[in-house]
Amino acid sequence: MKTINVGLIGYGFMGRAHSNAFHKANHFFDLEYRPVLKAICARDAAKAQAFASQWGFESVETDWRQLVRRDDIDLIDIASPNDTHRDIALAAAKAGKMILCEKPLARDGIEAATMVRAVEKAGVPTMVYYNYRRIPAVTLAKQLIDDGRLGRIFHYRAKFLQDWTISKDLPQGGASLWRLDVKVAGSGVTGDLLAHCIDTAIWLNGSLDQVNAMTETFVKQRKHNLTGKVEKVGIDDACAFLARFKNGSLATFESTRYARGHKALYTFEINGENASLFWDLHDLHRLQMFDHRDEGRLRGWRSIHVTDGDHPYMKQWWVPGLQIGFEHSFVHQVADFLQALARKERPRPDFRDALETQLVCDAVLKSARSGRWTKVPAPK
Ligand SMILES: NC(=O)c1ccc[n+]([C@@H]2O[C@H](COP(=O)([O-])OP(=O)(O)OC[C@H]3O[C@@H](n4cnc5c(N)ncnc54)[C@H](O)[C@@H]3O)[C@@H](O)[C@H]2O)c1
Repeated sequence: MKTINVGLIGYGFMGRAHSNAFHKANHFFDLEYRPVLKAICARDAAKAQAFASQWGFESVETDWRQLVRRDDIDLIDIASPNDTHRDIALAAAKAGKMILCEKPLARDGIEAATMVRAVEKAGVPTMVYYNYRRIPAVTLAKQLIDDGRLGRIFHYRAKFLQDWTISKDLPQGGASLWRLDVKVAGSGVTGDLLAHCIDTAIWLNGSLDQVNAMTETFVKQRKHNLTGKVEKVGIDDACAFLARFKNGSLATFESTRYARGHKALYTFEINGENASLFWDLHDLHRLQMFDHRDEGRLRGWRSIHVTDGDHPYMKQWWVPGLQIGFEHSFVHQVADFLQALARKERPRPDFRDALETQLVCDAVLKSARSGRWTKVPAPK
């Protein structure tokens, strides 16, 4: 078995999800390559050391530049905040490393395009953690759509709702609250949450052609954790947009961190001439389907418990009927990346795919500023 030495940057939420995935992938999937947790990198040496001990990393770095310089690292995994993605990816590409990167790929399309150019010039394999593609029920939706079971698509509807920033006393910036600082995050819910919805939508229903958006920042000023000053909030707290897909179908997307009662309600629905599909992250192992071709007396929404051996990914796990969860989507992502390497295929979604999502986010924010329908630019 060939080994791949991983250097992971960031030990937060995603650092844990990725470490778990690197550990599990080879236990549950038959793979030619095996990731080795060679180094964890974060700025606080003591915390990084503690993380290394807990998760089994062989070494610790406190500067990502040093990590990227190391000859014994084959793959850089970027699980740090959005403002670090571009510089790390450019250095890693120059050093000839494979790169896995968290979403959104960058803070905007300009940064993302620079990253795509660099990795394509270097010829290094990449992948971006739009992990919802790898939830078995979502992958099943993709299979059913690709089989042509829905027929012509008319509508796509997606939401990603949370409620954790409603308090006006919540500060912005710094550890764990960097998502509220526009300089670090690039945008608010658009890049953080809608980017997931957009990636899934493009994957299931093809490219978006144009968008018409509105955004709102409900709390205009917050104390900044790093400067201690009350500063203007630059992120979008909520965003809703209409869209037209290139295949002629219509869409609505909505995201907010102000929907009291909702923690991570990601849902999508797709309506075709023959059938519709609905999925809900809070019930992630189920796919709802309505098929108009069913016998009339029995016709209705069916709830498919996506846990059987012939469902995507599921034969690798337990016995039919037993569910898996959020963290498994990262295991699938790592396994699929390693499988693509073995088959010399393009891992998906790669940086180029993620650039397309980034350009939709840019168009959404531009439309919200102008109040006009805005064309999504073609990735160059
Ligand atoms: N795919 C998903 O479902 C998903 C979910 C959450 C976050 N994300 C993405 O993952 C990334 C990280 O988010 P998170 O929630 O894990 O954040 P987090 O705040 O929990 O962790 C960030 C980590 O990065 C480290 N870090 C920050 N700056 C650094 C630097 N200059 N050098 C080295 N390490 C640095 C921090 O110490 C921390 O360990 C973001 O891009 C975010 O958008 C994706």
